[in-house]
Amino acid sequence: MTHVIAIYPGSFDPPTNGHLDLIARGSKIFDELVVAILRNAEKRPLFSVGERRAMLERLTGGFNNVRVDTFDGLTVDYAAKVNASAVLRGIRALSDYEYELQMALMNRKLAPGLETVFMMPAEQYSYLSSRLVREVARLGGSIAGLVPEIVEQKLKRETGIRKKRGREQMTAVAETLSAVKFTDRINRIEPSATMAVVAEADKLRQQGIDVVDFGAGEPHFPTPQHIKDAAIAAIQNNFTKYTAVGGTAELRDAIFHRHAADFGSDYRREETVASVGGKHALFNAIQILVDHGDEVILPVPYWVSFKDIVRYAGGNCVLLESDEQQGFRVTAEMVARLVTQRTRLIILNSPSNPSGAVMSPEDLKEVVRFATERGIWVLSDECYVYLNYSGEKFSIGSLQEYRERILVIGSLSKTYAMTGWRLGYALAPAAVISGMQKLQSQSTSNPTSIVQKAAVAALNGPQECVEQMRQEYIRLRDHVVEGLRSIPGVACTLPMGAFYAYPNISSFFGRDGVKSASDVAGRLLREAHVATVPGEGFGTSDHIRVSYATSEKELDRGLERMRSFLTSL
Ligand SMILES: Cc1ncc(COP(=O)(O)O)c(C=O)c1O
Repeated sequence: MTHVIAIYPGSFDPPTNGHLDLIARGSKIFDELVVAILRNAEKRPLFSVGERRAMLERLTGGFNNVRVDTFDGLTVDYAAKVNASAVLRGIRALSDYEYELQMALMNRKLAPGLETVFMMPAEQYSYLSSRLVREVARLGGSIAGLVPEIVEQKLKRETGIRKKRGREQMTAVAETLSAVKFTDRINRIEPSATMAVVAEADKLRQQGIDVVDFGAGEPHFPTPQHIKDAAIAAIQNNFTKYTAVGGTAELRDAIFHRHAADFGSDYRREETVASVGGKHALFNAIQILVDHGDEVILPVPYWVSFKDIVRYAGGNCVLLESDEQQGFRVTAEMVARLVTQRTRLIILNSPSNPSGAVMSPEDLKEVVRFATERGIWVLSDECYVYLNYSGEKFSIGSLQEYRERILVIGSLSKTYAMTGWRLGYALAPAAVISGMQKLQSQSTSNPTSIVQKAAVAALNGPQECVEQMRQEYIRLRDHVVEGLRSIPGVACTLPMGAFYAYPNISSFFGRDGVKSASDVAGRLLREAHVATVPGEGFGTSDHIRVSYATSEKELDRGLERMRSFLTSL
């Protein structure tokens, strides 16, 4: 049977319930539906392309065969690019017909094999258009029921901001600034959801409010003394000049030797690069491997930055839904179902942020074998590899036979409580490492020289601190999971690594106006003064992320506040 791909082009400024209705209908008859946002359709859109894309991705997250993309130029060219054989369009009333007919016939002339399929939205949306919604919102009318709730909130905020701007009579300079045209690639991404929570919690603290912070993704331990001493000595010894772009030979050797000692891998200096944090290594690796239109398979729930980094590179994330009841397990079979000719990369993150799920060595090996045989790269984000509580510490970097398609991303941030120092690394085939160094040479240059000395001390020095912290995290995990599970209505899988619990709070939806994980996290912060991160940023809508990298006393304070808030709903 042929696999029918359809595109649903439009400007979606903003997405309406009519659009969603059509997407739901289209998803039932096509194997794959690409919601394609036309860039530059309007000179001054209400929402940027990035904002529209983010909204549509959230709204269509529940459809397995729907993805969102953006395009420029002719619809027929874009359809050819994504191998689509149909264009989906909605017809609401007779007035749409004339225009749509012309478009369809013109498209048929340009691309005879491309069929236009018209569908009618539900009757209640037959008068609905983005333009009308914008007008009504601008004039202060109610748009409830016409657009999804997240769009309604965003619209209210945006039109409010614009009105306020009007009232304040912006100066000519501000006018010019608001018209600045940003690049398409920056419009494709959103600020990190975790950073947003940190900022909001900080704002409350500045008002003198005592906030319990379960939002931050960083160890509560101080950096071990011998590491700090090495940095101080580096300053005293004037080790403060530029170094080689990818890190000193001493540091690169320390990185691959540590990995070899702990995981039995066999990398060389040319296959190692040091970067300004694991996120930086990840960013560089993805920018050099993923091109426009490439597909990247990403298991859900995912760490917030993966998706935006892939998008920045021009790639499309293909989400791999995992089952909470199975501990969010990811298998080669599940990956196989999503592979297409355009699959370039699979991202694995075990232990996982946010779920704490750990893949078994067998599942990891199977995914790597499957991918390598098809020439697909596997990027393994191993930032939490030392915080594995399953008793099976494992890195895919040790799988010698598949090495030519494996990229290991590591970080000292969590392992040695060094988040602020910014030191991460990649282990990969020499050609990839040299591409990453090229990009690094034109952006950040070397990681900070004194941090490199501290990193050498961390990697070559005593490792007891790593095990001590791991043991403490296990104790804190048991404590927080027990506390969360004791709150009526909260379900929580047992995290097997990292330092996050990912409780399911969906049983509270529908109570006291709560409709989503964002509502729960937002109200927990504003009303109970506990910072958590809503699951939407990680691709699931039923959870909040609770970081337990804090003291037991702080955990108890936060758990008590959560209990009294949630039970009051
Ligand atoms: C899964 C994952 N990867 C990468 C990083 C980046 O860590 P860093 O840039 O501090 O090394 C983080 C940080 O939270 C993370 O959770």
